[in-house]
Amino acid sequence: MTYNIQTYAVIGAGNMGSGIAQKIATEGMPVVLVDLTDEQVERGMGIIKTMLDQGVERRIFRPEQAEAILARITPTSNWNDLANVDLVIEAVFENLDVKKKVFSRLGEVCKPNAILGTNTSSFFVKDVAAACSNPERVVGLHYFFHPAKNRLVEVIGHELVDEKAMSAAWAAQEAIGKTPIHSADAPGFVVNRYFVPWLNEAVRLLDEGVADVATIDWAAKKAFEIGMGPFELMNVTGVPIAMHAANTLGQELHAFYAPAPGLVHQVNEVKQDWVLSGTPDESKFDAIASRLLGVTFYIAAKLVDEGVASVEDTDIGARVGLRWIKGPFQLLNETGIGKAQEMVRASMAPHGLEVPPFLAQADEGGIPIRLVSVGKRGALTSIWIDRPDAMNALNPAVGAQFDAAVEHGKANGAGIVIGGSGKAFVAGADIKFFVDNLRADAFQDIYSFTKDGQMTLRKLSGGDKAVVARVQGLSLGGGSELALACDWIVASPKASFGFPETGIGIYPGLGGTQRLPRRVGLPLAKYLIFTGQSLSAKKALNIGLCDDVTDFASLDQACEKWAEKGSVQQRAVPTIAPSQDWELIWDFFSRWTVEQILSGDADSLGEPQLEKAVKLMGFKSANALKMAERLLNDGEGLELNAALDLELEHLETAFSHPDALEGLSSLIEGRRPAFVVGVSAI
Ligand SMILES: NC(=O)c1ccc[n+]([C@@H]2O[C@H](COP(=O)([O-])OP(=O)(O)OC[C@H]3O[C@@H](n4cnc5c(N)ncnc54)[C@H](O)[C@@H]3O)[C@@H](O)[C@H]2O)c1
Repeated sequence: MTYNIQTYAVIGAGNMGSGIAQKIATEGMPVVLVDLTDEQVERGMGIIKTMLDQGVERRIFRPEQAEAILARITPTSNWNDLANVDLVIEAVFENLDVKKKVFSRLGEVCKPNAILGTNTSSFFVKDVAAACSNPERVVGLHYFFHPAKNRLVEVIGHELVDEKAMSAAWAAQEAIGKTPIHSADAPGFVVNRYFVPWLNEAVRLLDEGVADVATIDWAAKKAFEIGMGPFELMNVTGVPIAMHAANTLGQELHAFYAPAPGLVHQVNEVKQDWVLSGTPDESKFDAIASRLLGVTFYIAAKLVDEGVASVEDTDIGARVGLRWIKGPFQLLNETGIGKAQEMVRASMAPHGLEVPPFLAQADEGGIPIRLVSVGKRGALTSIWIDRPDAMNALNPAVGAQFDAAVEHGKANGAGIVIGGSGKAFVAGADIKFFVDNLRADAFQDIYSFTKDGQMTLRKLSGGDKAVVARVQGLSLGGGSELALACDWIVASPKASFGFPETGIGIYPGLGGTQRLPRRVGLPLAKYLIFTGQSLSAKKALNIGLCDDVTDFASLDQACEKWAEKGSVQQRAVPTIAPSQDWELIWDFFSRWTVEQILSGDADSLGEPQLEKAVKLMGFKSANALKMAERLLNDGEGLELNAALDLELEHLETAFSHPDALEGLSSLIEGRRPAFVVGVSAI
């Protein structure tokens, strides 16, 4: 069976279903929204309208965008409207009989290669799938509240599932802007398996008299570096929901997971939210933190031992789904293996549970956390950057793993496809890494990171097998430079390319000043680097910055097709504007220097396109602009590696200019940079 997901449907227009439909439509896809009656669908549409109105008020959407989103949703109570849909997501009541009836009917009304997903929170996906005439196309798609805002989705298979349906469903999640993680078909899947016991343990601490509510919330916030403590969270999401979830886990897994007596009492007797007021007793911090961490580490290690989730997905789940700054395994490594084992032992012994083997046997150096994964996509070796919650930003740890992956991929002998997990391809380099090192007077670390990165990217080209960049979403700075180092760039319509460095006081240092002009011609490279203008996939294709733009569903196929062409030995550098649209810009940046443009001597002919470019340059660092110009001009006549060396040579000059720290830190602080007028000599 082949699956090609272009259209979507959601069954159940309640809290979850309406939000899922809203998200799909917001990402530009058509979606059918089904409920039992027209009135119930209209209720769901009302929820969506209210959300979109709030979005307009808060200027997240323009009114016409909100209207377009609504127009992409087809509300209906007629199941025949599902006949041509490619992916159906069920979000009806959490009742197994109701779900089974829905899947039995979906099996009849949907076309044979439609994928059917269930958003169940507490049933096994295999039990829901069993109700469908062809269970191999049923997958679990567990979203988190509020599904139009929370990016996480757990993608769950089962024994009978067709792996092709799984990968198509996974790709569809990325197409609708979600961050998918894998989960086995197990109670609580990944995130609720540790989150619910974490809430429950807080109540146990209260029951045992270790501390009061205010102290436990305070200590939890401090230990996990989060904004809300467990009691406050239970009040926000509903205290009974925590109890029901704990009940389910307790029945499926072990008495440890069952609700603490205080939680049952609060729901059944007090029937109110927790009272949060009080002054934290700071002397209790260690006692509380070690219990909450101990429970979290225990479950995280169990998830890996049982094959429910990987270390990485366990952490991504916490960061994306719960908005924790650090995932359980990051926290565990920071705590130290020995101390973490001790915490688990002390927390779990009263329940008769031991340190799970994965943690018991862990190396003292810490649990390795993979940031780059190597696998296969069709005939190609895939190298994926897996930091979706950080938009796959590049830092030394990612760089080192990426380099090892490239070595491995090249040794494999097949073509390579490079991609990023989640919504973005690669959003550039980790700005905080630069700022921290500049402030610590450690330029050498910035230099080593950039040099190592350049060397890795040089390894990509050469050889007869092709390297293809699969740019499915935003690429910026180092991300666009990574794509440029590949033989071919295949983009989805949502992809974008941009070089914002001069706006933060530096220049593109991972080969951008040299590879970009070799692809699009010197004048357009100057335009892009001097103005920082991002290009849509379509415009990038128009100027040859990418080679293909194709629908999300056929991206992988397109990458294979381009890889078949082999590597690019010599690319002809464009010498004229790619089309009439670009003639003015081509001419302007061929003729005028940064100096002339900034001083107002360059004639923009009253053309809005050029005036906008000049205005944008006014916001950039003059030092960065002039350095970039010099590198672009001087690199032109050089052989590529010599040109790349030149880019590297001037890095220290750029980073030691005050504009670098000012520009980079302004980005972190969310303010406009105040650049100095002076320019360093290069
Ligand atoms: N609420 C959460 O935080 C959350 C989080 C993750 C997953 N879930 C799961 O999502 C699902 C939906 O939860 P919810 O909170 O949106 O529930 P809800 O009660 O708000 O909505 C359920 C909707 O399904 C409709 N419905 C019921 N039977 C139907 C049928 N046979 N055909 C079509 N529509 C039908 C109902 O009319 C209602 O509009 C549940 O399985 C739940 O476990 C919920």
